[in-house]
Amino acid sequence: MPQRHLIAANWKMNGLAAALPVAEAIAEIARSHASDVAIFPPATLLPLMHRVLEGTPVRLGGQDCHYMDGGAYTGDISAAQLRDAGASLVILGHSERRHGHLEPCELVARKVGAALRADLIPIVCIGETLDQRKAGKTVDVLTKQLRDSLPDDLDGREFHVSYEPVWAIGTGMIASDAQIVEAIGLIRTWLSERFPGANPNILYGGSVKPSNAAHVLKLSGVGGALVGGASLTVEEFAPIIAAGD
Ligand code: PGA
Repeated sequence: MPQRHLIAANWKMNGLAAALPVAEAIAEIARSHASDVAIFPPATLLPLMHRVLEGTPVRLGGQDCHYMDGGAYTGDISAAQLRDAGASLVILGHSERRHGHLEPCELVARKVGAALRADLIPIVCIGETLDQRKAGKTVDVLTKQLRDSLPDDLDGREFHVSYEPVWAIGTGMIASDAQIVEAIGLIRTWLSERFPGANPNILYGGSVKPSNAAHVLKLSGVGGALVGGASLTVEEFAPIIAAGD
Protein backbone atom coordinates (compact mmCIF):
# COMPACT_ATOMS: atom_id res chain seq x y z
CA MET A 1 0.00 0.00 0.00
CA PRO A 2 1.42 3.43 -0.83
CA GLN A 3 2.38 5.47 2.20
CA ARG A 4 0.04 8.29 3.16
CA HIS A 5 1.61 11.69 3.25
CA LEU A 6 2.11 13.31 6.64
CA ILE A 7 1.44 17.04 6.44
CA ALA A 8 2.81 18.69 9.57
CA ALA A 9 2.15 22.26 10.69
CA ASN A 10 5.03 23.59 12.78
CA TRP A 11 3.73 26.77 14.35
CA LYS A 12 7.06 27.49 16.08
CA MET A 13 6.77 30.42 18.54
CA ASN A 14 3.56 31.68 16.93
CA GLY A 15 -0.02 31.42 18.09
CA LEU A 16 -2.13 32.65 20.98
CA ALA A 17 -5.43 31.23 22.18
CA ALA A 18 -7.09 33.40 19.54
CA ALA A 19 -5.62 31.05 16.92
CA LEU A 20 -7.69 28.04 18.03
CA PRO A 21 -10.28 28.57 15.26
CA VAL A 22 -7.45 28.02 12.78
CA ALA A 23 -6.94 24.53 14.23
CA GLU A 24 -10.68 23.93 14.06
CA ALA A 25 -10.78 24.92 10.40
CA ILE A 26 -7.74 22.77 9.59
CA ALA A 27 -9.50 19.78 11.19
CA GLU A 28 -12.55 20.40 9.01
CA ILE A 29 -10.41 20.46 5.87
CA ALA A 30 -8.40 17.39 6.91
CA ARG A 31 -11.62 15.35 7.06
CA SER A 32 -12.01 15.49 3.29
CA HIS A 33 -8.41 14.71 2.33
CA ALA A 34 -6.27 11.62 2.28
CA SER A 35 -3.12 12.77 4.09
CA ASP A 36 -2.39 12.48 7.77
CA VAL A 37 -2.35 15.97 9.27
CA ALA A 38 -0.68 17.08 12.49
CA ILE A 39 -0.31 20.44 14.19
CA PHE A 40 2.67 21.31 16.38
CA PRO A 41 1.53 24.42 18.27
CA PRO A 42 3.46 26.13 21.05
CA ALA A 43 3.21 24.07 24.25
CA THR A 44 0.90 26.64 25.85
CA LEU A 45 -1.80 25.78 23.32
CA LEU A 46 -1.59 21.99 23.55
CA PRO A 47 -4.35 21.34 26.12
CA LEU A 48 -6.70 23.90 24.54
CA MET A 49 -6.07 22.57 21.08
CA HIS A 50 -6.45 19.01 22.29
CA ARG A 51 -10.03 19.86 23.27
CA VAL A 52 -10.69 21.41 19.86
CA LEU A 53 -9.18 18.50 17.92
CA GLU A 54 -10.50 15.55 19.91
CA GLY A 55 -12.49 13.27 17.62
CA THR A 56 -11.03 14.84 14.47
CA PRO A 57 -8.39 13.22 12.24
CA VAL A 58 -5.78 15.88 13.13
CA ARG A 59 -3.08 14.82 15.58
CA LEU A 60 -1.16 17.05 17.93
CA GLY A 61 2.54 17.27 18.61
CA GLY A 62 5.14 19.10 20.65
CA GLN A 63 8.02 21.04 19.10
CA ASP A 64 10.72 19.72 21.45
CA CYS A 65 11.11 17.92 24.78
CA HIS A 66 13.73 17.41 27.47
CA TYR A 67 15.85 14.27 27.54
CA MET A 68 14.96 13.56 31.18
CA ASP A 69 11.56 12.28 32.29
CA GLY A 70 11.21 14.93 35.00
CA GLY A 71 13.10 16.88 37.63
CA ALA A 72 14.77 20.22 38.30
CA TYR A 73 14.98 21.62 34.76
CA THR A 74 13.55 25.14 34.90
CA GLY A 75 11.81 26.20 31.72
CA ASP A 76 11.90 22.77 30.10
CA ILE A 77 9.08 20.41 29.21
CA SER A 78 9.13 16.61 29.44
CA ALA A 79 7.84 14.16 26.89
CA ALA A 80 5.34 12.85 29.46
CA GLN A 81 4.02 16.39 29.94
CA LEU A 82 3.51 16.74 26.19
CA ARG A 83 1.70 13.41 26.16
CA ASP A 84 -0.42 14.48 29.15
CA ALA A 85 -1.36 17.69 27.29
CA GLY A 86 -2.65 15.72 24.30
CA ALA A 87 0.38 15.30 22.04
CA SER A 88 1.07 12.03 20.26
CA LEU A 89 4.09 13.23 18.27
CA VAL A 90 7.12 15.42 18.88
CA ILE A 91 9.53 17.23 16.57
CA LEU A 92 13.16 16.75 17.67
CA GLY A 93 16.41 18.13 16.32
CA HIS A 94 14.82 20.97 14.35
CA SER A 95 17.57 23.20 12.98
CA GLU A 96 16.23 26.07 15.09
CA ARG A 97 17.12 23.88 18.11
CA ARG A 98 20.37 22.50 16.66
CA HIS A 99 21.67 25.91 15.64
CA GLY A 100 19.71 28.37 17.82
CA HIS A 101 20.22 26.32 21.01
CA LEU A 102 23.41 24.50 20.01
CA GLU A 103 21.86 21.06 20.43
CA PRO A 104 24.27 18.35 19.30
CA CYS A 105 23.12 15.08 17.73
CA GLU A 106 23.86 13.17 20.94
CA LEU A 107 21.36 15.34 22.83
CA VAL A 108 18.77 14.85 20.09
CA ALA A 109 19.27 11.09 20.43
CA ARG A 110 18.63 11.26 24.19
CA LYS A 111 15.48 13.29 23.54
CA VAL A 112 14.32 10.63 21.08
CA GLY A 113 14.74 8.08 23.87
CA ALA A 114 12.66 10.24 26.22
CA ALA A 115 9.94 10.64 23.57
CA LEU A 116 9.73 6.88 23.07
CA ARG A 117 9.50 6.27 26.83
CA ALA A 118 6.45 8.59 26.86
CA ASP A 119 4.93 6.86 23.82
CA LEU A 120 5.39 9.86 21.56
CA ILE A 121 6.22 9.37 17.88
CA PRO A 122 9.38 11.36 17.12
CA ILE A 123 9.91 13.30 13.91
CA VAL A 124 13.66 13.79 13.78
CA CYS A 125 14.90 16.67 11.61
CA ILE A 126 18.22 16.69 9.83
CA GLY A 127 19.69 19.02 7.23
CA GLU A 128 22.81 20.76 6.02
CA THR A 129 23.68 24.46 6.15
CA LEU A 130 24.45 26.40 2.99
CA ASP A 131 28.18 26.44 3.81
CA GLN A 132 28.16 22.67 4.26
CA ARG A 133 26.38 22.19 0.92
CA LYS A 134 28.75 24.56 -0.88
CA ALA A 135 31.70 22.67 0.60
CA GLY A 136 30.30 19.40 -0.80
CA LYS A 137 29.67 18.01 2.67
CA THR A 138 25.93 17.36 2.44
CA VAL A 139 26.16 13.57 2.33
CA ASP A 140 28.61 13.47 5.25
CA VAL A 141 26.50 15.86 7.34
CA LEU A 142 23.25 13.98 6.74
CA THR A 143 24.89 10.61 7.40
CA LYS A 144 26.44 11.83 10.65
CA GLN A 145 23.16 13.38 11.80
CA LEU A 146 21.31 10.13 11.08
CA ARG A 147 23.95 8.02 12.82
CA ASP A 148 24.23 10.18 15.93
CA SER A 149 20.63 11.46 16.36
CA LEU A 150 18.77 8.14 15.98
CA PRO A 151 19.31 5.83 18.96
CA ASP A 152 19.02 2.03 18.95
CA ASP A 153 15.77 2.39 20.93
CA LEU A 154 14.03 3.25 17.64
CA ASP A 155 14.24 -0.35 16.50
CA GLY A 156 10.67 -1.61 16.12
CA ARG A 157 9.13 1.77 17.03
CA GLU A 158 7.20 4.24 14.89
CA PHE A 159 9.18 7.33 13.93
CA HIS A 160 9.66 9.74 11.03
CA VAL A 161 12.54 11.77 9.65
CA SER A 162 12.33 15.20 8.06
CA TYR A 163 14.93 16.45 5.59
CA GLU A 164 15.21 20.17 6.14
CA PRO A 165 18.06 21.98 4.43
CA VAL A 166 18.79 24.80 6.89
CA TRP A 167 19.15 27.33 4.09
CA ALA A 168 15.63 26.61 2.83
CA ILE A 169 13.85 27.18 6.15
CA GLY A 170 11.92 30.42 6.32
CA THR A 171 13.86 31.84 3.38
CA GLY A 172 11.47 31.22 0.49
CA MET A 173 14.38 29.37 -1.16
CA ILE A 174 13.19 25.81 -1.72
CA ALA A 175 15.66 23.02 -2.49
CA SER A 176 15.71 21.79 -6.09
CA ASP A 177 13.96 18.57 -7.10
CA ALA A 178 17.30 16.83 -7.53
CA GLN A 179 18.55 17.97 -4.13
CA ILE A 180 15.38 16.74 -2.41
CA VAL A 181 15.28 13.41 -4.21
CA GLU A 182 18.97 12.76 -3.58
CA ALA A 183 18.80 13.58 0.13
CA ILE A 184 15.62 11.60 0.69
CA GLY A 185 17.03 8.63 -1.21
CA LEU A 186 20.13 8.70 0.97
CA ILE A 187 18.01 8.85 4.14
CA ARG A 188 15.77 5.99 2.97
CA THR A 189 18.75 3.77 2.13
CA TRP A 190 20.47 4.52 5.43
CA LEU A 191 17.32 3.87 7.44
CA SER A 192 16.50 0.62 5.67
CA GLU A 193 19.96 -0.70 6.54
CA ARG A 194 19.92 0.52 10.13
CA PHE A 195 16.25 -0.16 10.98
CA PRO A 196 15.16 -2.80 8.45
CA GLY A 197 11.68 -3.30 9.92
CA ALA A 198 10.79 0.40 9.98
CA ASN A 199 8.71 2.23 7.41
CA PRO A 200 9.11 5.87 8.41
CA ASN A 201 7.71 8.74 6.39
CA ILE A 202 10.54 10.92 5.16
CA LEU A 203 9.28 14.47 5.03
CA TYR A 204 10.67 17.51 3.29
CA GLY A 205 10.70 20.86 5.08
CA GLY A 206 11.84 24.29 3.96
CA SER A 207 9.68 26.95 2.30
CA VAL A 208 6.84 24.61 1.35
CA LYS A 209 4.00 26.81 0.07
CA PRO A 210 0.68 26.33 -1.72
CA SER A 211 2.48 27.07 -5.00
CA ASN A 212 5.08 24.27 -4.68
CA ALA A 213 3.48 21.71 -2.34
CA ALA A 214 1.88 19.44 -4.94
CA HIS A 215 5.12 19.31 -6.90
CA VAL A 216 7.29 18.54 -3.85
CA LEU A 217 4.91 15.92 -2.49
CA LYS A 218 5.00 14.04 -5.81
CA LEU A 219 8.80 13.77 -5.86
CA SER A 220 10.15 10.27 -5.45
CA GLY A 221 10.38 9.20 -1.82
CA VAL A 222 8.79 12.29 -0.29
CA GLY A 223 6.44 11.09 2.46
CA GLY A 224 5.10 14.44 3.56
CA ALA A 225 5.96 18.02 4.40
CA LEU A 226 6.92 19.89 7.53
CA VAL A 227 5.50 23.34 7.00
CA GLY A 228 6.38 26.42 9.02
CA GLY A 229 5.24 29.85 7.83
CA ALA A 230 2.59 28.57 5.43
CA SER A 231 0.91 26.51 8.16
CA LEU A 232 -0.22 29.51 10.19
CA THR A 233 -3.27 30.43 8.15
CA VAL A 234 -6.05 28.28 6.76
CA GLU A 235 -5.76 30.08 3.40
CA GLU A 236 -2.20 28.83 2.92
CA PHE A 237 -2.34 25.51 4.75
CA ALA A 238 -5.58 24.17 3.21
CA PRO A 239 -4.14 23.88 -0.32
CA ILE A 240 -1.04 22.18 1.09
CA ILE A 241 -3.23 19.55 2.78
CA ALA A 242 -5.09 19.09 -0.52
CA ALA A 243 -1.78 18.77 -2.39
CA GLY A 244 -1.04 15.60 -0.45
CA ASP A 245 -3.96 13.67 -2.02
P1 PGA B 1 9.22 27.15 6.69
O1 PGA B 1 9.73 26.27 7.94
O2 PGA B 1 8.13 26.36 6.03
O3 PGA B 1 8.75 28.43 7.29
O4 PGA B 1 10.40 27.31 5.78
C1 PGA B 1 9.92 24.90 7.77
C2 PGA B 1 10.44 24.26 9.01
O5 PGA B 1 10.98 24.93 9.89
O6 PGA B 1 10.30 23.05 9.16
